[in-house]
Amino acid sequence: MMLKNKKTKKEPVKKIVKDKVKKTDDSKSSADKVKKTWTALRGMHDILPKEEKYWKTMYNNVAKLAEFFQFGRIETPILEEASLFVRSIGKTSDVVEKEMYLFEDNDGSKVCLRPEATASVMRAYVSDGLWNNPQPVKMWYWGPMFRHDRPQAGRYRQFTQVGFENIGVQDPAADAELILVAYNFYKDLGLPVEIHINSIGTPEERERYKNELLNYYRTKKSYLCEECRKRMLKNPLRLLDCKEEQCQGIKEEAPQIIDWLSEASKSYFMKVLEYLDELGVPYILRSSLVRGLDYYTHTVFEIYPVSGEGPAQSALGGGGRYDLLAEELGGKPTSASGMALGIDRSVIYMKEYYQQNQLRVEKESYEIFFAQLGDRAKGRALKLLDELRNSGIKIAFNLYKNSLKTQLDIANELKVPYALILGQKEVQEGTVIIRDMESGIQEIVDQKKIEMALKKKLKKFDEEDK
Ligand code: HAM
Repeated sequence: MMLKNKKTKKEPVKKIVKDKVKKTDDSKSSADKVKKTWTALRGMHDILPKEEKYWKTMYNNVAKLAEFFQFGRIETPILEEASLFVRSIGKTSDVVEKEMYLFEDNDGSKVCLRPEATASVMRAYVSDGLWNNPQPVKMWYWGPMFRHDRPQAGRYRQFTQVGFENIGVQDPAADAELILVAYNFYKDLGLPVEIHINSIGTPEERERYKNELLNYYRTKKSYLCEECRKRMLKNPLRLLDCKEEQCQGIKEEAPQIIDWLSEASKSYFMKVLEYLDELGVPYILRSSLVRGLDYYTHTVFEIYPVSGEGPAQSALGGGGRYDLLAEELGGKPTSASGMALGIDRSVIYMKEYYQQNQLRVEKESYEIFFAQLGDRAKGRALKLLDELRNSGIKIAFNLYKNSLKTQLDIANELKVPYALILGQKEVQEGTVIIRDMESGIQEIVDQKKIEMALKKKLKKFDEEDK
């Protein structure tokens, strides 16, 4: 019986092995092997260690702001049901129409890599029952977004956004607060920005305005670019986003949405502007600002670098109010507003601006440099470093440089006040030398007492050490 089984199984196994052999490169003799190297996919980029100082500065800055303004951290999955974004952002938006990373999941359902996170956060607000919590619920996130856009400077297919959402309140102060957070984010980094702001009112007001806009554009149709003619049919508000030279004059003369807002919508918007005036946040009223995502109502805004040059010419961030999204996603009517900032673009702006203005990102500062001499000392140094790891003392070291002079040069560059020196003799005696880098005076200390000795010198005392 067993033998029989073996026999019947033998054929297919052989076949599979044969197929595999055909497909893998490993079967080729090494002479046949073509050397292949890989680069990141088009529109995606690596963030290398030398960039870390910018990214870290941005993250630390935004985390502090979030804490101060009392936003709680939310993380939503990168993969979501595709229909979530179609429903929220709108079928005719560029993001849904052209830029979604769509896949069919194993069960045949349509999923996509999130192109933005407002829809995800609102989905979580509804599906995780956050509407049961005291309102408003203020949340922030930091993570990758994906848009299959045409890559260019500052425009990627995978990029990082930090976002703030304030769900459960309709108050001009909430809009002003979000703008203030965005403004402070750049101000704290020393980067001048300006806020472009507009109100697009309610859907009814917008509908009336759209008709007026279309009436106006119909009379200019023969002068419009190809894309604008399509926009007239699909999404007339996007006519105001056109960047083509030939459409600029027409756009400037177009009716302005503010004239089509109700008194209530106008006075809501005026209140937002009043708050911004009081805060001293500079803004520019831009009647053509409509944003590219369908969920907005009332206040909309974008953040631009003041220099207005280079890739950062495109918006660094944007946001607005989205009072109807909760209902659109199956929740109870819930007012909300939010904004997101593009970190990749902000890093580009920061680098350019710092370079132009000779500013520097503060380097990590160290208190001690640990120098070692010889093989035995290297092993012992690793052990001592590991013991000092949680001491709260900031220690730099370089285990791959063998000369003491080179190591002390590094210590000087890092401007540390003290260096630890461990040679063969110290290993044997269970001691270590503490060198005052300014005076050059050296002191021998028992290895077991290093932490205490260093803390005394650095005037760092734990409560119980006092
Ligand atoms: P958004 O204007 O589509 O808004 O994106 C916000 C920011 O993300 C942009 O200003 C830009 O800095 C960055 N960004 C967008 N696309 C790219 C790209 N392809 N490459 C690099 N950076 C990019 C939103 O996503 C809304 N969810 C904002 C929001 C939050 N509204 C309410 N709450």
